[in-house]
Amino acid sequence: MPVSIAMAGKGGTGKTTVSGMLIKYLVNHGKAPVLAVDADANANLNEVLGLEVTETLGNAREEMKKGIVPSGMTKDVFISMKLEQAVMEQTGFDLVVMGQPEGAGCYCAANTLLTGFLERLAGNYPYLVMDNEAGMEHLSRLTTKNVDVLLIVTDTSRRGLQAGLRIQKLANDLKLGIGKSYIIINQAKSEPDDEVKTMIVDSGLELAGVIPADEEVYEFDLTGRPTVDLDADNPAMKAAYAIFDRIIP
Ligand SMILES: Nc1ncnc2c1ncn2[C@@H]1O[C@H](COP(=O)(O)OP(=O)(O)O)[C@@H](O)[C@H]1O
Ligand SMILES: [Mg+2]
Repeated sequence: MPVSIAMAGKGGTGKTTVSGMLIKYLVNHGKAPVLAVDADANANLNEVLGLEVTETLGNAREEMKKGIVPSGMTKDVFISMKLEQAVMEQTGFDLVVMGQPEGAGCYCAANTLLTGFLERLAGNYPYLVMDNEAGMEHLSRLTTKNVDVLLIVTDTSRRGLQAGLRIQKLANDLKLGIGKSYIIINQAKSEPDDEVKTMIVDSGLELAGVIPADEEVYEFDLTGRPTVDLDADNPAMKAAYAIFDRIIP
């Protein structure tokens, strides 16, 4: 199974941005192919990577559930085809978008198929990067039950940090089987003070590093340019790479 790296943290802290930087890092450091999974219902990792999404696993699941199978095709063949269509193959990485969560009704059979598909798929990659939404609930429903590295992204606000520390506690309580958890302070306007550092250490977390607030990162997002197109000497990109050099196995 791949080394799996998952993002967590309050909304807007930079999980998707850091995911994009991480995927670029892994591809540039010969750790490819990477399986990138966008597990946020409001999927936008594709934008950071500069891709357009045509099919999601959620969509495939809906169609399975409705039982729409073209004539001349067995159900199994149709389902495999749909799921495979949801894997967007790029140079150095593939992206899978989970899409909208299931609606009402029983999705058990469809979910079993989907989980099996993702597990088999993940086996083909040395690295898996999962971008998440703010909550942790769905981390417990994860297909890949083990998370080797949990990156909790926070901004410099006290609330962001507290949310991060709660996530760490929840991850422990849910027994998610997390190898190692780190805090990344993103969008920083200054170095964290001692009080912040103490809060982190006291919670049993390790500060992986600080990524500065960078006008260009923000501008790229605002104008719809993919974050991964930032220059290697962009200060935020450089800081992120230095963090990954230290913590990525
Ligand atoms: N280091 C940074 N400097 C400036 N803006 C950033 C930085 N990191 C993220 N942002 C911006 O913050 C916003 C939220 O980032 P995003 O990655 O979507 O957060 P999340 O996935 O946690 O909700 C985006 O506009 C993004 O461009
Ligand atoms: Mg996001």
